[in-house]
Amino acid sequence: MNYNEQYDFYRRAIEETLQAIVPCDVPQPLQDAMRYSLLAGGKRLRPVLLIASYAMLKEDFTEALPFAAALEMVHTYSLIHDDLPAMDNDDLRRGRPTCHKVYGEGMAVLAGDGLLSLAFETMADSAHPKAFDAMKELAMRCGTRGMIAGQCKDLQAEETGGDEETLHYIHLHKTADLLTAPIVMGLTLAGADEKQLAAGREYGRNLGMAFQIIDDILDVIGDEKTLGKSIGKDQEENKCTWTRIYGLEKAREDAQKYTDMAAESLKIFQNQGNFLKILAQRALVRVQ
Ligand code: IPE
Ligand code: IPE
Ligand code: MG
Ligand code: MG
Ligand code: MG
Repeated sequence: MNYNEQYDFYRRAIEETLQAIVPCDVPQPLQDAMRYSLLAGGKRLRPVLLIASYAMLKEDFTEALPFAAALEMVHTYSLIHDDLPAMDNDDLRRGRPTCHKVYGEGMAVLAGDGLLSLAFETMADSAHPKAFDAMKELAMRCGTRGMIAGQCKDLQAEETGGDEETLHYIHLHKTADLLTAPIVMGLTLAGADEKQLAAGREYGRNLGMAFQIIDDILDVIGDEKTLGKSIGKDQEENKCTWTRIYGLEKAREDAQKYTDMAAESLKIFQNQGNFLKILAQRALVRVQ
């Protein structure tokens, strides 16, 4: 399989798992709101990263699927809340109206909360001997020292403007943490040793930094229709972004630099690291 076929193969397995994941006994319209955002497409990058990291060490990734689904649920929850009027106030996500636009703000808050708890319930149902370690990794990366900490600084910086140090902190936590979690979780579930985990952590951090820099660039020069979300919002909301602090040209250079470092981190995996290496290169030139 070439890279695209491999990505699609992983993605199909993830879509199938997600389709069945929201229980039927969740009250309405909460159940619909959760499904609306979770099944709206998206690149499925985080669960693909988890499966691909697992697959570097072990071929049959079936036992990793609940964890991959959990990653996507946590990511989707973060997007639902990120779009709320109290945060980024966005109307468009994954090419459709944001969750709160369709179901109202209260229901969107609950849909996010619901996806977050369902993610941990899904992982806890797994009998995998490393389930606890994987859950702890995700809890830390998405929590108040991880993604939420980054989102906190992101909001504060709207008022204060933010400096270079703040910018690095925001990107590292609001985005790179949730791109590092899948690598560490996938490797952990597949029985990686400490050296492999350290390399995976480094890859995730560098990929995550590049990913958010590109997101900032796309908010300036991207195409709304292709992206599936509104552009120009960062400037409107006075966000502390890579393009605002450093300008477009340096943002591009830095995204390249982080991508190169990501590829470098994969060396110990030799040929097994090829998929993740290409993934980082594709993420650099993405348009959506
Ligand atoms: C958007 O993530 C939020 C960021 C961290 C930049 P993605 O660009 O992965 O969004 P989807 O999942 O494809 O919609
Ligand atoms: C998103 O950052 C980070 C999280 C959702 C945790 P952005 O606010 O830049 O993401 P988009 O541009 O709305 O997707
Ligand atoms: Mg935001
Ligand atoms: Mg946003
Ligand atoms: Mg953005």
